[in-house]
Amino acid sequence: MSKGVYVSKALAVSIIVVTVLAVSSIITMLVVYNIQIEKNPPQRPPTNSPTTPFPTGPPPNLRLPGDLVPEKYNVYLQTYFYTRLSNVTNQTFAFNGNATVYFKCLKTTKKIFMHSKDLNITLFRVTDENGDVVAGRLTLWDDESNFLEVELESALKANKNYIFFTTFEGEMFDDLAGLYISKYTENGEDRYLAASQMQPTDARKVFPCFDEPAMKAIFDITIIHRRDTTALSNAKTKESWVTTIDDEQWLVTHFYPTRKMSTYLLAFTVSEFKEEKSDNLTWARPEAVDANHTKYAQEKSIEILMFYEEEFGIPYPLSKLDQIALPDFSAGAMENWGLITYRETALLYEEGVSSTSNKEWIVTVIAHEVAHQWFGNLVTMKWWNDLWLNEGFATYISYKGVNKAEASWGINDLFVLHETQPVMQVDSLASSHPLSSGEKDVQTPSDITELFDSITYSKVLFSLSWSFMFFNYKSYLKAYEYSNAEYKDLWSHLQMVINSEIRVEEVMKTWTQQMGYPVITINTTSGEVLQQHFLLNQTSHYNFTWQVPIKVMKSGSSTLEADLLTRKGPVQKVMYQASGNQWLLANVNCTGYFRVNYNPQNWERLLKQLESNHKNIPVINRGQLIDDAFNLARAKYINTTLALNTTKYLRNETEYIPWESALENLDYFILMFDRSEVYGPMKAYMRKQVYNLYKYFEPYTMNMTCISNQYNQINAISVACSNDLEDCKETASKLFREWMNNASNKIHPNLKSTIYCNAIAAGGEEEWDFAWQMYMNATIASEKDKLRYALSCTENVWILNRYLSYTLDPSKIRKMDSVSTINYIARNVVGQSLAWDFVRSQWSYISQEYGGGIMSLGSLIDGVTERFSTVFELQQLRQFQKDHGEGSFGSATRALQQAMERTEANIKWVQENKQTVLEWFRRETTNL
Ligand SMILES: *[C@@H]1O[C@H](CO)[C@@H](O)[C@H](O)[C@H]1NC(C)=O
Ligand SMILES: *[C@@H]1O[C@H](CO)[C@@H](O)[C@H](O)[C@H]1NC(C)=O
Ligand SMILES: *[C@@H]1O[C@H](CO)[C@@H](O)[C@H](O)[C@H]1NC(C)=O
Ligand SMILES: *[C@@H]1O[C@H](CO)[C@@H](O)[C@H](O)[C@H]1NC(C)=O
Ligand SMILES: *[C@@H]1O[C@H](CO)[C@@H](O)[C@H](O)[C@H]1NC(C)=O
Ligand SMILES: *[C@@H]1O[C@H](CO)[C@@H](O)[C@H](O)[C@H]1NC(C)=O
Ligand SMILES: [Zn+2]
Repeated sequence: MSKGVYVSKALAVSIIVVTVLAVSSIITMLVVYNIQIEKNPPQRPPTNSPTTPFPTGPPPNLRLPGDLVPEKYNVYLQTYFYTRLSNVTNQTFAFNGNATVYFKCLKTTKKIFMHSKDLNITLFRVTDENGDVVAGRLTLWDDESNFLEVELESALKANKNYIFFTTFEGEMFDDLAGLYISKYTENGEDRYLAASQMQPTDARKVFPCFDEPAMKAIFDITIIHRRDTTALSNAKTKESWVTTIDDEQWLVTHFYPTRKMSTYLLAFTVSEFKEEKSDNLTWARPEAVDANHTKYAQEKSIEILMFYEEEFGIPYPLSKLDQIALPDFSAGAMENWGLITYRETALLYEEGVSSTSNKEWIVTVIAHEVAHQWFGNLVTMKWWNDLWLNEGFATYISYKGVNKAEASWGINDLFVLHETQPVMQVDSLASSHPLSSGEKDVQTPSDITELFDSITYSKVLFSLSWSFMFFNYKSYLKAYEYSNAEYKDLWSHLQMVINSEIRVEEVMKTWTQQMGYPVITINTTSGEVLQQHFLLNQTSHYNFTWQVPIKVMKSGSSTLEADLLTRKGPVQKVMYQASGNQWLLANVNCTGYFRVNYNPQNWERLLKQLESNHKNIPVINRGQLIDDAFNLARAKYINTTLALNTTKYLRNETEYIPWESALENLDYFILMFDRSEVYGPMKAYMRKQVYNLYKYFEPYTMNMTCISNQYNQINAISVACSNDLEDCKETASKLFREWMNNASNKIHPNLKSTIYCNAIAAGGEEEWDFAWQMYMNATIASEKDKLRYALSCTENVWILNRYLSYTLDPSKIRKMDSVSTINYIARNVVGQSLAWDFVRSQWSYISQEYGGGIMSLGSLIDGVTERFSTVFELQQLRQFQKDHGEGSFGSATRALQQAMERTEANIKWVQENKQTVLEWFRRETTNL
């Protein structure tokens, strides 16, 4: 049994991992860049000297000057690697090529600035329209600008066209950035493939280019590769032929020219992959295609594509849309125009093996990436500071797409759990940031990478959802197609259709330009309402005011009342007053992005309503009351016991949202107390609360269409098992034993994680070794992930230690999975100190070997220190920092700092709350 590990949590963890990853290459890239900054602090280019006759050099920042704009590129790339090593002795990951860029000069200049990174430029030539060479000297900037600079002997003239030609050499690594190498096994043999990930700034690692999103151009690509491989890119293959180079035969694949597009959306793959037969292709490992694992994604993506075409009123602009599942991929997926790349878990589905949450993940990611084909690819943000225009739209629209593809799921119900609560959590920390940042504040690749967080992805949804109902997608897309937009363009488009005295920009400004969100405090006796900036761990120094749309309902009344609170308050209004025993509930159905606090009497009345008939309060708000109460308690607006009291009615609750909200919040209690005497009474309480739910969902083979019921069944079983409900533990071990005995796995896919975990926790070496064997044999990544998680649940110290050592061996645990595996082990209370010791003792190796981008050192530190809440642990953290020197943590620097701050906050919280919480749990369980 793994104490304190709810599987719903594990799912959440995996969802978070993937979201975070999907959310982009985020953290991994952060690692690379931060390390590079350490080594080469970015040097701003010199400012123009007043004596130069022509404007030379970029402005004093890391942006291209904009005086030259590309129109078209011809790019040749040749890769030399072999996919199989059987007969080969000289495997090589080198690539080379040439690039011809046709550009226009807008302003006379003697300098060309472009981007190039980690490439050896072997030849370059600048020519004018007549083919005359313009002589010059080429320099590669050795810093984070990645500038390729050519100083010319004579100036380029405004309104003339020029050609810049380069030949170059590069090398592919397994760094998941630019053009990179990936590996998988087929029939027990290694296979290699090349794939790409350009976003945000790695197209420059493949060929020299103007690598900024607004520098859109047409790309004419040719790839030269080994004859037994297939090359893919954004456009369809126009022609392909065999040619002889240096006595060897090569396949040349020439693609149609692309539409006008940004460099970060380019994509290339060279592999032995097979396609799922159809017009719009889904590519994967041949074994996965033969096993029909691509079928589900194939069907759903076409459905979603056609739905968007209708919804947006603009046909999909390209002639094909390929999707490819890659064995190694830093993000969850990437929306490259015409060639979407995915992690295997985000695309491959096996009926009877993959769970509903695997399926949900696949459809959600597809719906997100396909939405980008319009929002992001057709219309692109002008610069990365407006990344949320791309991501917010894609996330918002993906809910419509999923709802279309899987109507029976009721996906919109999960919005609050998937988007609202997580983003509110992040946005309540002092380290949060406003949605919209100034163009000047986002310069370096690491500035850009930091933007890929949940604020960028989710916050805009709340702020915008009220106005999106009127949004005319077509007119917005038409206005900016093949071009770029800024957030102001969006407001003006919304204003056009909203046609009311509400000034869109005024309202939206308060949500996009200020970080965080308000807590609305309502006094139902006096009818007073006020807003304050809500921060979890401190009081705000900012004088923020939001324009807050508030919807209110009262007991005994069926009408909603609405208000737009524009002042800080307190403001007094009749609508906030309740009479007699009436309760008042604000933020009905959680359409607003804020928390709500009430006077104690109103809290009491709401709790009473939950106890007597909870269905009188909408289900989303039952979740909100719990989530708000726990967060308000953490921020000391209310007592911890009031928050705990919101969970008492759960013994009669069968809905997912309230349960999940409670479990998410109680998870903090588990982390803080699962090594103390509080944990016994807490488990007894949880057993009592979950009993009815467990019985309700007990038939483990139940078929349910509604997705939230399916998830709540998982919760019921994992909470019951992890809190020692004997029935549950026995059933888990029995089901697992059956699998071990007759080699056919009858466990319902949804329940696999929970059952595996609990059976391994209750079992010993035999169970673990069996699961490890199944992990090694699994042919689908989602099954591997479930087993990889479950293997961390054992209570055997030596087995956990051996498992930890496997994370350093890529043939056992893929590099992309190392961090999450170590974090799973740290989540297990038995593994906590093992994982921390392991990370400390292996730090030099880990940070050197994996610090280059694949492992996110930051989330590793974050994961292994999550439980820290003692003075002793704080000292260990400080010692760790001292031992390695403050400057040596690269991208983990901030995470280490945050871990120390969090530990201090935890120490304080435990001191202040332990006794109260212990007494509360004891009181609630005395007469059991
Ligand atoms: C490669 O090796 C396999 C078995 O070792 C052999 O059957 C095959 O003919 C070889 N191919 C080449 C091109 O040498
Ligand atoms: C690899 O070896 C083969 C045969 O020895 C040779 O023809 C070929 O040029 C080599 N390739 C590279 C990239 O060195
Ligand atoms: C670029 O490389 C390709 C393939 O090697 C070659 O056919 C082409 O002529 C080169 N382009 C130029 C302009 O030299
Ligand atoms: C680039 O040039 C350097 C120095 O000549 C060499 O060491 C390196 O291997 C070259 N890299 C590639 C990818 O060809
Ligand atoms: C493939 O995509 C294109 C572009 O949207 C579309 O016209 C075509 O109908 C799709 N093919 C199928 C089989 O859905
Ligand atoms: C895959 O699907 C095809 C067509 O539906 C079917 O004939 C084949 O047996 C399936 N293959 C497997 C391995 O299930
Ligand atoms: Zn996206």
